Amino acid sequence: MSDMSATKQLAGDMNSPAPQHSEVPLGTSTDNNVSSTNNNMSTWAMSNLQKLNVTELYTQQRQSLRPWLDFFNTNQFKPPANIKAGARRLVFNVEHFQTNYFIVIIILSIYCIITTPALLFILLAMGAGCYLVSLKNRESPLTIMNHQIAISQQYLAVFCLCVPLLLMVGAGSAIFWILGASVFVIFLHALFHQTPNQEAFGVQMEEMAPSSDYILEFKIDVFKTLKIVGITTGVLTAIGLGAYYIHRRTQSSKRVILRDEVRNILRPFQLTEEQLRRVMANLNTEMTNGLKSDDTENLDLAMFPTYVHHGPSGQESGEYLVVDLGGSNFRVSHVSIEGRNRMRLNNKIFLIPHSLLLGEGEKLFDYIAECLQRFIDDNKLSLLKSANYKFDLAFTFSFPCKQTSLREATLVSWTKGFSCTSVVGNDVVLMLQQAIDRRKGLKIQVVALVNDTVGTLMACSSIYRDCKAGVILGTGTNACYFENLDNVPKWTGVRDNIHKQVIINTEWGALGRHGCLDFIRTDIDRELDESSLTPHQQVFEKMISALYLGEIVRLIIVDLVQRSILFPGRMQKSPSIRPDYNIFLILRGSFYAKHVADIENDTTEDLSITTTILTSIGIHDPSYDDCYIIREVCKTVSLRAAKLAAAAVAVLINRLNMSSVTVAIDGTLFRHHQQFKHNLTRTLGRLVPRTHRLVLSEDGSSKGSALVAAVDRRLKTAPMTYDKTNLPS
Ligand code: GLC
Repeated sequence: MSDMSATKQLAGDMNSPAPQHSEVPLGTSTDNNVSSTNNNMSTWAMSNLQKLNVTELYTQQRQSLRPWLDFFNTNQFKPPANIKAGARRLVFNVEHFQTNYFIVIIILSIYCIITTPALLFILLAMGAGCYLVSLKNRESPLTIMNHQIAISQQYLAVFCLCVPLLLMVGAGSAIFWILGASVFVIFLHALFHQTPNQEAFGVQMEEMAPSSDYILEFKIDVFKTLKIVGITTGVLTAIGLGAYYIHRRTQSSKRVILRDEVRNILRPFQLTEEQLRRVMANLNTEMTNGLKSDDTENLDLAMFPTYVHHGPSGQESGEYLVVDLGGSNFRVSHVSIEGRNRMRLNNKIFLIPHSLLLGEGEKLFDYIAECLQRFIDDNKLSLLKSANYKFDLAFTFSFPCKQTSLREATLVSWTKGFSCTSVVGNDVVLMLQQAIDRRKGLKIQVVALVNDTVGTLMACSSIYRDCKAGVILGTGTNACYFENLDNVPKWTGVRDNIHKQVIINTEWGALGRHGCLDFIRTDIDRELDESSLTPHQQVFEKMISALYLGEIVRLIIVDLVQRSILFPGRMQKSPSIRPDYNIFLILRGSFYAKHVADIENDTTEDLSITTTILTSIGIHDPSYDDCYIIREVCKTVSLRAAKLAAAAVAVLINRLNMSSVTVAIDGTLFRHHQQFKHNLTRTLGRLVPRTHRLVLSEDGSSKGSALVAAVDRRLKTAPMTYDKTNLPS
C-alpha cells in the first residue's frame, strides 16, 4: 500500500462513514453525471441527516477520541524539523486529535465560566428559560395575537434577551479568553506532538509530489505557501491574543487574590438588609423607651421634648439674632422674617480656637459674646434702634440638652470633639446670657434654645406643610420629629388642645451605648471609640457622621499597611518618605470626610484625584493598586454610613405614619457628598415603601431657630386656640 493510499485510508478512518461520492473520478463526469451525483449527494445527505441524531454524533466523536496516554505522551513531543514539516504536523494533528482538542476547549470554557459567577448565573438562567419554553410548547404551542410562534423563534427570543446581560457581565472577553487559550494550547500541542509513522509519511508525501507538470507544481507550491503563511499568521495572532488574555486574566486574578484579602477586612462593614432592619427595630424600641422616662443612664436615647409645639404659620415676623454653635466653627446671623415665611439672612462664620473647645466653658461663652458684639458693630445693626432696644436671640446649640422650657436647657454631655469644663450640668442659656451681660453695651436677650435638627425642621416646614422631621447628617448626626404628646408618657408639661404635640429631639447619635449595635460594630469602630474624647458614647454617630468617617478610613488604611497590602515594602525601601507616612499613620483625624467623598467619586482612569489627595497628605507616589484599594475602602465606609442613616430615617418615617411625609435634611454629608446622598436615598426606598421626600434645608439651623423664636413671639402676642394644621395625620 502506497503512503498516499495510506493517507487516504487514515483520513477515511477518521471520517467514517466516508461519503460515497468521493470515489467518483474527477474529470470524467458529464453534466448528467454531475446532476446525478448531486442528486445522489442530496439523497445521501438527506437520508444521513434524518438518521443523524445526537447519540450517533456522540458515538462518532467518541470513536475518534485518541487515547489520552498518547495525547499526553511526552516522548512524542519533539520540535518539527522545519516550517513545512511543522505546518503539516499542525494540519494532521488538528484532524487527528480533533475530539481531544474539543474536550480541551470544553474544559477551558468550563473553567472560564465557573470563575466568572455572573456569567454562570446568566447561562443557567438562559438554560432555564429554554427549558421552560420547551415545557410550555409540550402542552400547547405559544400564540400571540392569533399568530403561532415557532419554538425556534422562542429559543431565539430567550437568547436575544440574554445576550445584552451576557455582554454586560463580560461574555465578550470570556469568549476571547477561551478562544485565545484554546488556540494557544492546541497550537503548541499540534506543533510539537509527532504524527504517527514518526513523521515518515510527511517526508514521503513530499517525495511523491508530481514533478512532471511544472505549472501544476508551481500552483500547488504557491497555494501551499499561502496556506502556510495564512496558518502561521493566524496562529501567531491567536497566540498573541491568547497570551494577552491569559496575561490579563492572571493580572486580574492576582488582583482578585489581593482584593480578597482587602474584602475580608471590608466585609464586616458591608451591611445586609436584614442587619439594617434589625438596626431599625432596635432604634424604634429605644425611641419608645426614651419617651417613657428620663433615665439617661440606662437608656440609649434621651428623646428630649423641645418645648416647640407648632411649626410656623406664615404669620411670623421680626428680626432676630442667631448664634449657631455645633461644629468646629460657629455662625452669627441676623435674620429678618417678613411675613409669609419670607426671610433675609446675613451671617458671618467665626473660627473657634482649638484651645477654647477643650478649655474653660466660661471662656467659650465670653468668646461668643465678643463675636456677637463684633457682628452687631460691623453690620451697624444698632444704628436705628432706641437706647433700650434688646435683640431677641435664638441659640442654636447642637449638643444634648435637657430642656425645662424653651429658654432653659441643661447640657447633658459634650459631643463632636467639644470638651469645655464647667458646662455639663449647667444651663447653657443662662451661661450665654451671663456672658452677654458681662459685656456692657450688648443688649441681647436669649429667647430660645434650639437644637440644629429642630431649626432644620422648622425652616423646611415653613415651605412644606407635610414636613414633620428634621435630620442632620454632618459633623454629627441627629434627628427630631413631631410626636403626639399621648405617646410621650414622660411629658410633665401642659397637655391641652393647643399642646397636643411636641418636637422631640431624639439624639439618635447615642444609639448603641448599651450594646444594641454590637452585632454590626467592627474592631475598627471599637478602636476609634476607645481613642475618642467620648468613649462608649455616640456609638451610632461614630459610624455615620463626617467627624468620624475619615478616621475610620484612616484606621483601615493603617491596618492594610501593617498587613503589607498597601504600599508594600515602601516604608522599608524609602526611609526618606517615612516621616510623611508616620504623620498620616499616627496622627488621629489626619484624614477627613471630604477626602473620603473625593476619593469615592474619583472616576479618572488612572485614579489621579486619589493620587493627588494621597500626595497632599504625605503619601507620595502611591501605586495604582494602592489608590484602587483606598477607593474601595472609602466607598465601603461611606456606603455603610449612608445605609445606617437610611435605616434611621426610615424609622422616623414609619413613626410619623403619614400618607406622605417630607423630611428636612442638612449637614455636609447630605449637602456635598453626592454618592452618600444617592446611597441614602436608594436604601431608604428599599426600607420604606411609604411616600416620602427628602429636602435639603438651606441654612436651616439658623433660619429655623429664628422661626422658633418668631413662633414663640407670635403665640405670646396672639395666643392660638387650636392649630389643626400641625398635627401629624
Ligand atoms: C450631635 C449632637 C446633637 C446634634 C448633632 C448634629 O449628635 O449631640 O445634638 O444635633 O450632633 O449636629
